[in-house]
Amino acid sequence: MVNYIGTATPRVDGRAKVTGEAKYAGEFNISGLAYGSVIESTIPRGRIARIDTSEALRVEGVLDVLTHENRPRMASANEAWKDDVAPEEGSPFRPLYDDKIRFSGQPIALVLAKEWEVARYAASLVRIEYEKQPFVTDLCRQRDQSFVVKKPDKPRGNAQKAYAGADVRHEAEYFIPTEHHNPMELFASTVMWDGGKLTVYDKTQGVQNVQRYLCGVFNKNADDLRVISPFVGGAFGSGLRPQYQVVLAVLGALALKRSVRLVLTRQQMYGLGYRPATIERLALGAKADGTLDAVTHEAIAVTSQFEDFSRNDTGWSALLYKSANANYLHRLARLDVPTPSDMRAPGAATGVYALESAMDELAVALNLDPIELRLRCYSDRDQNEDVPYSSKQLRECYRQGAEAFGWDERKPEPRSMRDGSELVGWGVATGVWEALQMPVAARIVLTANGHAEVSCAASDIGTGTYTIMAQVAADTLGLPLENITVKLGDSTLPQAPVEGGSWMAASASHAVATTANEVRKELLALAKAMKDSPLAGARFEDVALADGKVISKHEADRAVSIADAMRHGAVDRIEKEKTNNFPDDSSHAHNTHSAVFVEVKVDEQLGVIRVTRVVSAIAAGRILNTQTAHSQIMGSVVGGIGMALHEETLYDHRFGRIMNANIAEYHVPVNADVQDVKVIFVDEPDEIINPLGVKGLGEIGIVGVAAAIANAIYHATGKRVRDLPITLDKLQR
Ligand code: MOS
Repeated sequence: MVNYIGTATPRVDGRAKVTGEAKYAGEFNISGLAYGSVIESTIPRGRIARIDTSEALRVEGVLDVLTHENRPRMASANEAWKDDVAPEEGSPFRPLYDDKIRFSGQPIALVLAKEWEVARYAASLVRIEYEKQPFVTDLCRQRDQSFVVKKPDKPRGNAQKAYAGADVRHEAEYFIPTEHHNPMELFASTVMWDGGKLTVYDKTQGVQNVQRYLCGVFNKNADDLRVISPFVGGAFGSGLRPQYQVVLAVLGALALKRSVRLVLTRQQMYGLGYRPATIERLALGAKADGTLDAVTHEAIAVTSQFEDFSRNDTGWSALLYKSANANYLHRLARLDVPTPSDMRAPGAATGVYALESAMDELAVALNLDPIELRLRCYSDRDQNEDVPYSSKQLRECYRQGAEAFGWDERKPEPRSMRDGSELVGWGVATGVWEALQMPVAARIVLTANGHAEVSCAASDIGTGTYTIMAQVAADTLGLPLENITVKLGDSTLPQAPVEGGSWMAASASHAVATTANEVRKELLALAKAMKDSPLAGARFEDVALADGKVISKHEADRAVSIADAMRHGAVDRIEKEKTNNFPDDSSHAHNTHSAVFVEVKVDEQLGVIRVTRVVSAIAAGRILNTQTAHSQIMGSVVGGIGMALHEETLYDHRFGRIMNANIAEYHVPVNADVQDVKVIFVDEPDEIINPLGVKGLGEIGIVGVAAAIANAIYHATGKRVRDLPITLDKLQR
């Protein structure tokens, strides 16, 4: 009965994407569209003393210039501005709300014109005078003013004391700079104005989140404001919260009573959320036999002056390895910058980089193979909650990854392997992420011609949600894949949370399977009602849908075609909508794991680093689609290469401004930086987590990659660089 689940099924939306038929937020058209251009603050803190828009307004084709002084009404209550994934503490940013400047790059005016070029030109004519105030954008300057936001619920033992008494100790600080998501698609919104009702095409990871938020900000009924986002050109977390351009586009439409499009420039994308710069301190104490006895992990991360954004950087260190004593602490330092946001595996990408670098340093101190150290500390239980995992095949990741990589050929001494003028280094690291599930509803409409439409408000942010939902529907309804149509990304469809946290594949596939069960129930009832039905007396558990039939699982000749069952019942469509229901399972931990193996080659004279081979062995439950899953992990590995070697948002702290707000100077890996990447999915049956045993892959692929690269560079060169990105100048210091 399983034809599609687990196979390499090409994307069902692939053709639409390569032919340009797939439309993105900035591409929906309507006649009479007006275009917006944003003006950003050039200072990080202070107030707007004066805005003179007169010259801009005189330009032919300019329709209006909106500022905090003349904008339409927006909500004043803090709660109205809190979207589904806003930080609990603080007050969300409100564009054009008042005269206060909170960060450089803050939107302070919106020019609206008949043409985008005209809007952009007129924006250059708006004169702004500021009252400046003192500011700080440097984490190192504020670390002493940081405050604690997260402590362990149950600290274990006394890590400080155990560390002091350990046979072998390693303590160090690691640093991850600010990183911006840089998705290919710019943030964009097209707002269709239709008298009272608004249809908002938005780049977002959650249409219903944006809908609720806009309804709160503009005091609208949900029926009068629809948000649509069928395709997303990458987001990596930047589209989880509604971004300011959607507020400004709606403001423009309300002010002009006209449809408005607003697309941010690449530079303006650096005024949005980002992965916060973080200082991570690790202290590991071990016995001489390589078992851990003390783990301490403290992080200090950036947040804004107005919201407390924090993620779990440090808890992984206490969770992953066996240690009787463990402690962690997360601190925040306030800077005059926008609020950080989730970026692929938020917390883990950074925290596990530090942990897995520290574990490598500990292995060196113990004179142990780095995999052997991890095996000696291996835990079959979640060390924080002291519960078993629903499944954990990390051991297999180490074994299969090592075998595919050829790890046993490694010479342990740094600088001991070379290839001509290049030093060769081999490094390894562990990855860990959560296997979360969220309530998601799916609707299935089955018609008598054997076609089914599956719909849900969820976004497909490029991950393959359309495809896996089609696969699960095809298998659970017993229909060929081409008979399934999937509709996503529309706030009027059945409820779904933002697509993030790697929870959508598990949640949405479960929702489809749950709804398909209801369809099967109804089809069985129709089949049983037929005269002399071959399924007379059959129970729900005994039948499946396969090959377009309701069929007994035990006797294949007892079957009724779906078309016959519906015809006899005089039913031309069956429509069901159900929410996935997964049991609240606190007696198990649910996580995904990985082992990442990396080969680097470092030019001995120049310090140029190349990542020549990566093997990523992933344990993430059942893989729904080996092709899209492979792409997910490949993409994450590339993200990890960027994190290790390239990505860094550079500030000029004298002005509080970003210096490289463009993708020429903010480096991301290009094709030449990505060589041999091998992805292995380790078999990980999981009968506890959900009926299909699915965990999710969006984020696990990046976790551990930066550490494995840093560890490989140490092995190649004997030089430990603890602040990312590892650039050649740092190797020469
Ligand atoms: Mo992901 S950072 O939850 O989109």
